[in-house]
Amino acid sequence: MSRSDSSPDALDHEQLRVVRGRRSGVVIAVAVHSTQAGPAIGGCRITSYSHWRDGLDDVVRLSRAMTEKAALAGLPHGGGKSVIMDADAVLDERDRLLVLEDLAEVITSLDGAYLTGPDIGSTPEDMEIIHGLTGGLAFCRPESGGGSGNSSTATARGVLAALDAAADHVFGTGADLRVGVIGYGSVGRLVADELAARGCAVTTGDLDGSRRAVAEAAGLTWSTEDLLGEEFDVLVPAAVGGLLSEERARTCRARLIVGPANNQLTHDGVGSTLHERGVTWVPDVVASAGGIIHAVCREELGLTEEETTRRITAIGATVTEILTDARESGTTPQTAARDLAARRRTAVPA
Ligand code: PHE
Repeated sequence: MSRSDSSPDALDHEQLRVVRGRRSGVVIAVAVHSTQAGPAIGGCRITSYSHWRDGLDDVVRLSRAMTEKAALAGLPHGGGKSVIMDADAVLDERDRLLVLEDLAEVITSLDGAYLTGPDIGSTPEDMEIIHGLTGGLAFCRPESGGGSGNSSTATARGVLAALDAAADHVFGTGADLRVGVIGYGSVGRLVADELAARGCAVTTGDLDGSRRAVAEAAGLTWSTEDLLGEEFDVLVPAAVGGLLSEERARTCRARLIVGPANNQLTHDGVGSTLHERGVTWVPDVVASAGGIIHAVCREELGLTEEETTRRITAIGATVTEILTDARESGTTPQTAARDLAARRRTAVPA
């Protein structure tokens, strides 16, 4: 198997560390997919898995996606990811500190090959702790501590740029859109509220029903139905990944799917199914890049907020390039994105 084999089953990573934290007893996996363009970057996910193999699958796939995400965003980084397998989802404050210390030890031992950031289940406050313990190997500490803070606003801005460009491509400019936003969490909420404020008809839903009142107050329709089966112009996956299986791709009723959830397809073939059915899917590696762009531009490249916003908004131009290329060459957006990532990777100064 060649090193560049990017099939989902290939272990094309530089490093995969799996340890049981000696302080916490919790299993931690850190994957460094690539450092070719620069240190691997990727968030720290703290979540429970029904099986440790699922956690390893997650870290292997998510870190690979980060390499593509960084390349498409033109950042001097490769991809990595860390996963803390909080078996019973019960980490209390003391255990949480121990597990962060354990993770910091792994990160330190990687000698700068991996830089972390927030992800599902982790916060800027956690990054502050890791930053302190590793001598600076974590992004998105709170602004009060000198970091770039919560990346949700930037991620949402990137999603909106991607959505606008893709909607222009699919429906033409200025169409009245019916939008379904799956997940009303930190990013989904910002995207849904902004679209509603612009006059789109937005329906949302979340496993956490306590979010309903806030959504309705923002003018959204709340639904407990499976939004994937409902009829929308645009569907925005903003909850956990793996939403689109082969079967669901065959029955989903949106014309355009674009959102921040990582790893939206259960496997690559699903992209072809969507394509054959005339559903335009914007790869999440493009749509979700606002967070890392913001963190890297502000904390590492020293760009102003204004210049950083320009780089985030440029996600729109990347989406247009990918969808145009896919249309002209008859490939899927996924393939077009992968090709563009390869071209941009070679263009990033090492
Ligand atoms: N969750 C972010 C992402 O997947 C991770 C991240 C944000 C990493 C900011 C570093 C800096 O893009």
